Amino acid sequence: MISAHQAETGAYPACEEFSAYRGYSWFRDGSFIAEGMSRQGQPGSATAFHDWCGRVLASRQRQVAELVRQARSGVVPEAKDMLPTRFTLAGESGADEWWDLQLDGYGAWLWAVHEHAARHQVAPERWRVGIETACDYLAQFWNTPCYDWWEEHAEQRHGSTLGAAYAGLAACAASPALDDRRRTLAGAAAAQVKDTILTEGVAGGGHLSKWIGTDAVDASLAACVVPFGVVPVGHPVAAATLAKIETDLLAGGGVHRFAADVFFGGGQWPLLSCLLGWNHARAGRRDKAAGLLRWAMAQADPDGLVPEQVGHHLLHPEHRPEWIAKWGPVAKPLLWSHGMILILADELGTNLEN
Ligand code: BGC
Repeated sequence: MISAHQAETGAYPACEEFSAYRGYSWFRDGSFIAEGMSRQGQPGSATAFHDWCGRVLASRQRQVAELVRQARSGVVPEAKDMLPTRFTLAGESGADEWWDLQLDGYGAWLWAVHEHAARHQVAPERWRVGIETACDYLAQFWNTPCYDWWEEHAEQRHGSTLGAAYAGLAACAASPALDDRRRTLAGAAAAQVKDTILTEGVAGGGHLSKWIGTDAVDASLAACVVPFGVVPVGHPVAAATLAKIETDLLAGGGVHRFAADVFFGGGQWPLLSCLLGWNHARAGRRDKAAGLLRWAMAQADPDGLVPEQVGHHLLHPEHRPEWIAKWGPVAKPLLWSHGMILILADELGTNLEN
């Protein structure tokens, strides 16, 4: 399904069947999709995606250099001048309005491209200009409030956005594609990101918070443990975060995004169930991980297509009709859902043919 939808340019469209996403690729979704393809015997697909990202970023090299120059001279750039959240499959900004200014996708990409390069012994120099551009951008702007993974709350600094920035900068700090000056810059920024998360982004209960200053969690925070490694598996903050996500957001085998979620009524997201399962798998809790994988796969329709969310258990059912009226039925197939299933299946050594 993922290969069939991948554009000739290498971009992974988020969901061509859904009006609001059609024709666009997100670095966030694509990075996880590429990780799944890279793990599941499709390295050529992942390389093509990373080549596309590398070209997109290289075409923005001057823009980023100018933004960094301005910021260093004390001018705070306007959100509209920053990099967009999503790109057309040709790698352009696109003409449709969107919730632009999201930083996590650039961190997720830096993480994913280095994972892929190491796994398949591809020299990351292949993506050097793109890596330099994303590295400079994040090293300068990682602490800027921006929309989160769900394109909400632009005024906040979000735990899982900071986590993605950390992983990307940490990958840059050890990247053979970068020179010593940039590696040092990235390493120093990664240390600051981690310090900010651990000093400002931990709530009273000892768990990571959805954004700095709230006690609420978001299921995307699990990524701060696996795969982004802000805190190691088993660390007290990791354990408290996963426990809080399970208590607040896991219902009947599927994971919600966050308690106040009204998008399509706030259903359960297969991709987040896989993210939680990935964390359990790494912590040695294979039964829990396998249960989450089974649940995610069971959300496929008879044609094997997995949606963005399912409506068996809605947090705010009264809001579902307004979204259906606005955008039509829930996005399906969502390539990111499929990509996360590939990752968790690989993590568990599950053969998806059976
Ligand atoms: C989600 C994003 C996602 C996008 C494309 C949005 O509804 O909030 O996380 O990147 O869809 O899948």
